[in-house]
Amino acid sequence: MDDRLLGTQRPLPFSLTGGGSHYEVVRLLAAGSMGTVYLARRTGIGGFARDVALKLAPPRYARTLFHEARILARLGHRNVVQAYDFGRAPDGQHYLAMELVHGRSVRAVLEHAADRQSLLPLGAWLSIGLGAAMGLAHAHDLCDDDGELVGLVHRDVSPSNLLLDHDGAVKVVDFGVAKLGALLSPLPPGPARGCAGYMAPESLAHRDVDLRSDVFSLGVVLYELATLRRAFPAPVRVAGGAQLRSLPIPPTRLIARFPARIEEIIMTAMHPDPRARFQTADALRAAIEDVAELLGVAIGDAPIARTMAAMFGPIRVLDDGCDDSGDGPRRISGPFDAVEYITIEAEVEEAAR
Ligand SMILES: Nc1ncnc2c1ncn2[C@@H]1O[C@H](COP(=O)(O)OP(=O)(O)O)[C@@H](O)[C@H]1O
Ligand SMILES: [Mg+2]
Repeated sequence: MDDRLLGTQRPLPFSLTGGGSHYEVVRLLAAGSMGTVYLARRTGIGGFARDVALKLAPPRYARTLFHEARILARLGHRNVVQAYDFGRAPDGQHYLAMELVHGRSVRAVLEHAADRQSLLPLGAWLSIGLGAAMGLAHAHDLCDDDGELVGLVHRDVSPSNLLLDHDGAVKVVDFGVAKLGALLSPLPPGPARGCAGYMAPESLAHRDVDLRSDVFSLGVVLYELATLRRAFPAPVRVAGGAQLRSLPIPPTRLIARFPARIEEIIMTAMHPDPRARFQTADALRAAIEDVAELLGVAIGDAPIARTMAAMFGPIRVLDDGCDDSGDGPRRISGPFDAVEYITIEAEVEEAAR
């Protein structure tokens, strides 16, 4: 874990009051790259109580958390985690209270499958792609009060930012480094943001990104779900703001009887040229639905719920402590497991000097 985050972790349980809300923080869920996510109970008069996921950020990440909170507050879709509340505790830490996802991250599902060397059921991982594509399509369609598209791009679509509720619902989380247009003040234009192993070439090269970068990242996640291998295990060289990466081995060459039509969808989504990809997340969603129908594969929440139950048994709260920047999955290995968000930023900044 990042040493700088240690200050945000406190002995449990503790309580937090800010902006008229009161939270009993009961359990650590995950230590992320910018803050810590806890399971907390919001309490009110008359015995009102609601369990939430509470993301706490130290003052230096307050702006990022505020940025994320403002975006989430404008989104409302079953495949995007819901924001409930944002505020500042008396000690200066900022918090974002969110819908609590009772389940696991896609990262945890991948690790579990890789540990057992057992491919995921086709219907389950196609459904994960379907739910994520629907959540992203909603985010990409975000408009301002005048009905103008704001050009929201998540920029950090990766297995640890896609959560799966035990009932099979996919939830996109972590809009902390999302890019948007003029409506809400964007983060300053800066170096590449996101987890390098999942980033589109244009994003790594620090060129303009648009929603097609998210389509690429989701394609990389789908590749990993299909094959249990990282699509881009080789280290990326970011020199002078440019980078080169080789194409991944097509799934049909790795897995016997892998449907060619599904391979085509994955490889189209993660095409190096944005113009050759699906042009929207909704087009990817439609392609997944069409291929599932053609092959007679059932998709939706149920296949995910069944897979989760078979893997983890009854689930109460999200409890995987995984993240794509940490030590990562053991079997889905590659130098990329050690990749860090901050490293990329530092490298690009250095290259730009
Ligand atoms: N709403 C939520 N419900 C349950 N767990 C969550 C929720 N939001 C985040 N988490 C957990 O915390 C981790 C880090 O949260 P995230 O928003 O991705 O922050 P970071 O920017 O630090 O990566 C996630 O990968 C997930 O394991
Ligand atoms: Mg994250």
